[in-house]
Amino acid sequence: MENYKFLIIGSNGLLGSNIVKILKKKNYTYATCARSNSNFNIDLKNFNSVKKIFNNNNFEIVINCAAKVDINFCEKYYPKAKKINSDFLKLLAQLSKKKNFKLTQISTDHVYKGQKLKLNSENAKLFAINKYAKTKILAERHLKKLKKYLIIRTNFTGKGKNSFFDWLYKNIKKGKKINLFYDMYTSSLNVKKCAELIIKLTLINSKGIYNLGTKNMLTKKEYAENLSKIMQKKLLFTPSSVDILKVPRGKNLGLDVRKIEKKLNLNMISANKAIANCLKEYL
Ligand SMILES: NC(=O)c1ccc[n+]([C@@H]2O[C@H](COP(=O)([O-])OP(=O)(O)OC[C@H]3O[C@@H](n4cnc5c(N)ncnc54)[C@H](OP(=O)(O)O)[C@@H]3O)[C@@H](O)[C@H]2O)c1
Repeated sequence: MENYKFLIIGSNGLLGSNIVKILKKKNYTYATCARSNSNFNIDLKNFNSVKKIFNNNNFEIVINCAAKVDINFCEKYYPKAKKINSDFLKLLAQLSKKKNFKLTQISTDHVYKGQKLKLNSENAKLFAINKYAKTKILAERHLKKLKKYLIIRTNFTGKGKNSFFDWLYKNIKKGKKINLFYDMYTSSLNVKKCAELIIKLTLINSKGIYNLGTKNMLTKKEYAENLSKIMQKKLLFTPSSVDILKVPRGKNLGLDVRKIEKKLNLNMISANKAIANCLKEYL
């Protein structure tokens, strides 16, 4: 039987890999779980393999960063997405009860119904605007009866394959014309900062639901305009409404971050600072 402080599930993903980098730097004992290149290489759909990991090891804190995040995939293959995004959390919640670890689930800003120009507080109304949001809302329900749990509703981006920032940065650099939404607001944090604060919050006496994002929100169009200014490159774009997408998306996903600010006794960074932080990763 091995003992670890942390288990990071989905350790090869954008957020998971950034969490692992910080844990390594800070010398915490941790194990990783992913399809490959991790301590426990499994397909999470195989629940028996998951149970085996927990039978043979002890963890104090488990952070689940694994999910199907492709909104079109979730819409088309709902049962497959539900298995990883929701049913797997039911299993983790059962294991948390049995083995007494703190379970941290990475949720999303996409669970909020949203009101125009308003930031969503943790008790704002939830609404499953699409199947992805539905799977994430269902997942949260499995945790709420636990003694030791955290649900982090967040939005982040950064250097990584297929990320929003990567797409934006490359197209601005090439001078390629892109579509940008003028009616979708988010409080997108740089992934490094997001990972750092998730670890901080898990390590203290914390429980319940926390929003984690920048202090203010921007539309996708404003985000791109601000990035192009910092890059001193011209932005070529067609302004579009998010309504053009086949699968509906939330529009007013800004996060009210006062609860986490109070808990961690800090001021969250601005959206522009988060953009500058993302850019630093490319220089
Ligand atoms: N990125 C965002 O903007 C954003 C915003 C809000 C919330 N979130 C939430 O944050 C969390 C992390 O997101 P992310 O952007 O880091 O996503 P990501 O880069 O796609 O990472 C998710 C990881 O989960 C793994 N995974 C999925 N199904 C699996 C399976 N059956 N077995 C083993 N591994 C599996 C994926 O591996 P494969 O690629 O091999 O499938 C991937 O490495 C998710 O819960 C997401 O809902 C993300």
